[in-house]
Amino acid sequence: MVAHDALLQDARRAIRGVVSFEALEKARVEFLGRNGRIAGAMKKIGGLGEAQRRAAGVALNAVKTSIEKAFETKQKELIASQNAQLAKDEAVDVTQPGLRPAGQPATRIGHFHPITHVMRDLERVFTSMGFIVLDGPELESDYYNFEALNIPPDHPARDIQDTFYVSPSAKGGSASGGDWVMRTHTSPVQIRAMQRYGAPLRAVALGRVFRHEATDASHEHTFHQIEGLVVGEGISLAHLKGTLLVMLKEILGSQVQIRLRPSYFPFVEPGVEIDVSCTICGGVGCRACKQNGWMELLGAGMVHPRVLEAGGVDAKRYTGFAFGTGIERLTMLRYGIEDIRHFHESELRFIEQF
Ligand code: PHE
Repeated sequence: MVAHDALLQDARRAIRGVVSFEALEKARVEFLGRNGRIAGAMKKIGGLGEAQRRAAGVALNAVKTSIEKAFETKQKELIASQNAQLAKDEAVDVTQPGLRPAGQPATRIGHFHPITHVMRDLERVFTSMGFIVLDGPELESDYYNFEALNIPPDHPARDIQDTFYVSPSAKGGSASGGDWVMRTHTSPVQIRAMQRYGAPLRAVALGRVFRHEATDASHEHTFHQIEGLVVGEGISLAHLKGTLLVMLKEILGSQVQIRLRPSYFPFVEPGVEIDVSCTICGGVGCRACKQNGWMELLGAGMVHPRVLEAGGVDAKRYTGFAFGTGIERLTMLRYGIEDIRHFHESELRFIEQF
C-alpha cells in the first residue's frame, strides 16, 4: 500500500516537472508503459496470497487511474499553453499600417486604367437611361459573329486578314473549318440579347474584340468596343441620334457636336457613320482631324429586319437602332492620346497620368 502511494507521488512529481509533449510521453512510458512501473507493481502483486492480492489490486488500480488522470490534465495544460503561445506569436494587428514593398515610394497606390474609367462612365451613362449592361463570349461562333448579322459568306470582313479563326477541334466541334472565331466586334451580343430578352429592349455590351491585322498608331489586334441596341415600337434614327449625343457629351464634354453620314454595314439599314466635332480644335480644323473639323467615331443604323428575325423579334411590329464603337478611340479623343499602343504597354509613366 505504502509502495503504491510512493508510486503515485513519484508520478505526480515527474508530471509536474514536464514542459514538453516529448517529456510527457517519456514519463507516460515510464509509469504506464507496457514495461513501466505500474506494470511492474502488477507483476509483484501476482505473488501474493488471494486476499492480499485482491486488496492490493484494488489499491493499485486506483493509483493507476489517478496517474492516468494526472497525465490527461497535464496534456490539456500543454495544449492550452501551446495555443496561447501560437496566438501570441501569430497575432496580426489589423490596425497597423501595411508594410510597403521594398523601394516603393509612400504615394504609390493603385488606380483604374484609362480604358476602365471610360468603360465605367459608359455603363453609368447608359444605365441612367434605362439600359441593361450585357456580356458576351469572346470566343464566338461563326453564326453569331457573322451569319445572324446578315454578313454573307463572301463579305470582306470574313477575310482571314481580319478574323482570328479558331480550329473547331479546339472546341471539340464539327468537321467544317472556321466554325469558331475570336469575335471581331461586339455586335453578336445584339442577337444574343434579343434571343434572351426579346422586345422591347435597351441594352449595351462592353468588351474585348479581336482583329487579325497589323498594329500601328490607330490599330490594335485586341481592343474594346461598346455595342448599343434599342428595340421597340416606333424606334427611329432620331432616337439613335439623341441617345448618342447624350453619351458623347457625357464622355467627351458638353461642347461636342455630331453629324451622321450614310454608310454601310450588313446588319443595319439604313447604316450611318457618326462623326464628332474634333476634340482637339473644336471643329476649326487641325492636324488631328486632318483639317476637316470632324472625326469618324461610330458605326450605327437601324437594325436590319433579318437581324431582328435572327434574334426572334417580330420585324413587322418592332424597329430598332444599333451602334458600335471602339472604346480605345473614345478614350484617345477624351484624353488627347495619340497612339493606341500606349494602352497595352504597361508603361506606368503613361498609366499614372489618368
Ligand atoms: N460592328 C461594327 C464594327 O465593328 C459597328 C456597328 C455596330 C455598326 C452596330 C452598326 C451597328 O465596326
